[in-house]
Amino acid sequence: MLCQFPSHVSLRTISRRVLIYSFYFLTGAAALCYLVLELYIFQHTYSARVVSENSIINEGNVTSQFISTKRTQDLINETQTVLTVKDLKRMQNFSDDKSNSVEITRNSSISGDTLDHQQTQPLNGSLRPLTCDGCFHTDFPVLLENSAVCKTGNQTIDLIMLVFTTHDKEKRRQAIRDTWASVTKNNTANVRHVFLLGRSSVEHFMHSVEKEHVLYGDIVMHDFADSFRNLTLKTMSGLRWAVKHCGHARFFLKTDDDMWVNVPALLNIVNEEQANLNTALGGVCRITGPEPNRSNKSRYFTPYNAYPQPTYPGFCSGTGYVSSLNLARHVISVSPDVPFFHLEDVYLSLCIQRLGKPFRLKRLKGFVQVKSDKCRLKSNSTTTAHRVYPPRLRKIWAASCNESHEHTTLIRQGAAIQTTVTVETQKGP
Ligand SMILES: *[C@@H]1O[C@H](CO)[C@@H](O)[C@H](O)[C@H]1NC(C)=O
Ligand SMILES: *[C@@H]1O[C@H](CO)[C@@H](O)[C@H](O)[C@H]1NC(C)=O
Ligand SMILES: *[C@@H]1O[C@H](CO)[C@@H](O)[C@H](O)[C@H]1NC(C)=O
Ligand SMILES: *[C@@H]1O[C@H](CO)[C@@H](O)[C@H](O)[C@H]1NC(C)=O
Ligand SMILES: *[C@@H]1O[C@H](CO)[C@@H](O)[C@H](O)[C@H]1NC(C)=O
Ligand SMILES: *[C@@H]1O[C@H](CO)[C@@H](O)[C@H](O)[C@H]1NC(C)=O
Ligand SMILES: *[C@@H]1O[C@H](CO)[C@@H](O)[C@H](O)[C@H]1NC(C)=O
Ligand SMILES: *[C@@H]1O[C@H](CO)[C@@H](O)[C@H](O)[C@H]1NC(C)=O
Ligand SMILES: *[C@@H]1O[C@H](CO)[C@@H](O)[C@H](O)[C@H]1NC(C)=O
Ligand SMILES: *[C@@H]1O[C@H](CO)[C@@H](O)[C@H](O)[C@H]1NC(C)=O
Ligand SMILES: *[C@@H]1O[C@H](CO)[C@@H](O)[C@H](O)[C@H]1NC(C)=O
Ligand SMILES: *[C@@H]1O[C@H](CO)[C@@H](O)[C@H](O)[C@H]1NC(C)=O
Repeated sequence: MLCQFPSHVSLRTISRRVLIYSFYFLTGAAALCYLVLELYIFQHTYSARVVSENSIINEGNVTSQFISTKRTQDLINETQTVLTVKDLKRMQNFSDDKSNSVEITRNSSISGDTLDHQQTQPLNGSLRPLTCDGCFHTDFPVLLENSAVCKTGNQTIDLIMLVFTTHDKEKRRQAIRDTWASVTKNNTANVRHVFLLGRSSVEHFMHSVEKEHVLYGDIVMHDFADSFRNLTLKTMSGLRWAVKHCGHARFFLKTDDDMWVNVPALLNIVNEEQANLNTALGGVCRITGPEPNRSNKSRYFTPYNAYPQPTYPGFCSGTGYVSSLNLARHVISVSPDVPFFHLEDVYLSLCIQRLGKPFRLKRLKGFVQVKSDKCRLKSNSTTTAHRVYPPRLRKIWAASCNESHEHTTLIRQGAAIQTTVTVETQKGP
């Protein structure tokens, strides 16, 4: 018979085995249950935490909310990125008297219009004016200056690369130093680079960045709170630094720490476009528009009072734009009269609008935002690519592609410049 037990197995052994197997089964099931429960509790408390963080935000006298559906961790980290009335008053010292008597009432409503959000009432005095009389100040004290980054003998500097980063992104900075920024040859070649930072409230971040600065001498830190909402402050203080300490460079590039930058291809383009870039900001640009996003779910949310006009005057994507130091100088000189605006690339465009002709935006070829083949990214046809993180960055750099070799000649070695990395004394943290 099929189900007859082998004769040598006693009933006692069988029951013992049954006992043992059911024990295994039960422990397994219990462990599984525990895991599921744990996961549930984790998620539950996690979202509860987010909710409570939000309600903290909502308690304040907030004129605009930056609440997005982004990843929860991002949300938690960016709770400081809410723009408050105090911020507005501090950062845009309106000469307009009315602004001081503005009261934001949460539930006053407005009819019609593109508003889809209760806290964006365009009360008269609180509307962002297009221009003002010396209301926006961006000469923040410097914490780490590295004024020697652009020191040369007779050599010209073709390009100073300003890389936006935050304190916690040490790995990205290192990957960039090891890959596309290595063409600066520790800031001795005809291309130079610095990383731009504000102040972090996390003390150990301040210390680790200071250590990095001692090692590499390529950190520029100004004294403002480093946050998404404050990127415009980073742009303006970065341009100020470039004009002050790298004013003899021919071009500057503003880019981010999640970018691939093909420096030789970029040099090709800026050389070709030299005449234009004297007064144009170049990159992935929209020459007019778009409309501000009035949905508080958007990362680029702009409440009505922060920008009452229906459209932006275009902008060049902050992922990578280039121009001359001449344009940088003009932007700096006009920016005190252009009130703060939180989207840094739009802010630059507003400054250019204020400067008027011949200053303008210009689309440049080669600036792509898509992921593509490694060798294509290294070819002449690509200057920048977005969302490239350290592992891929290193892979792209390591890829051997025929075409790329011809461009390396564009990077010249510094004329026997001694890199004197000066160690500034830090005020703070
Ligand atoms: C909001 O502002 C008013 C007047 O400035 C102040 O009295 C009130 O305490 C503020 N509320 C909060 C939550 O900060
Ligand atoms: C958020 O901040 C914490 C510490 O302040 C940091 O460990 C974490 O990496 C940050 N997360 C993101 C997504 O930036
Ligand atoms: C605002 O401007 C006035 C004069 O225009 C000046 O006295 C005052 O100190 C400024 N306030 C801030 C916070 O910059
Ligand atoms: C604002 O809200 C308060 C209380 O919620 C209510 O009494 C008042 O009528 C509201 N005002 C307007 C203009 O809706
Ligand atoms: C976002 O806008 C919606 C209406 O469009 C509103 O109900 C919601 O309260 C807003 N969220 C925050 C956090 O302000
Ligand atoms: C806003 O200002 C305009 C002109 O300055 C005026 O006509 C209008 O009545 C004001 N509205 C309010 C609500 O104060
Ligand atoms: C700089 O250029 C001058 C003349 O153009 C030359 O005499 C001098 O040796 C150069 N100095 C360096 C450090 O190259
Ligand atoms: C740059 O500096 C690092 C360490 O500070 C060193 O290992 C590397 O060899 C230097 N590279 C060049 C090209 O001088
Ligand atoms: C921007 O920086 C200023 C100066 O440090 C600070 O007072 C303000 O709180 C910051 N704003 C945000 C939204 O982080
Ligand atoms: C605004 O942002 C939201 C969320 O990211 C998006 O769904 C919407 O299409 C955007 N609206 C405009 C006009 O760009
Ligand atoms: C790369 O660009 C340079 C300058 O624009 C040009 O001379 C060269 O022919 C280009 N090479 C390729 C392979 O397109
Ligand atoms: C590189 O060049 C060699 C010959 O010079 C050729 O066999 C090879 O296919 C090329 N590789 C690529 C990726 O173009």
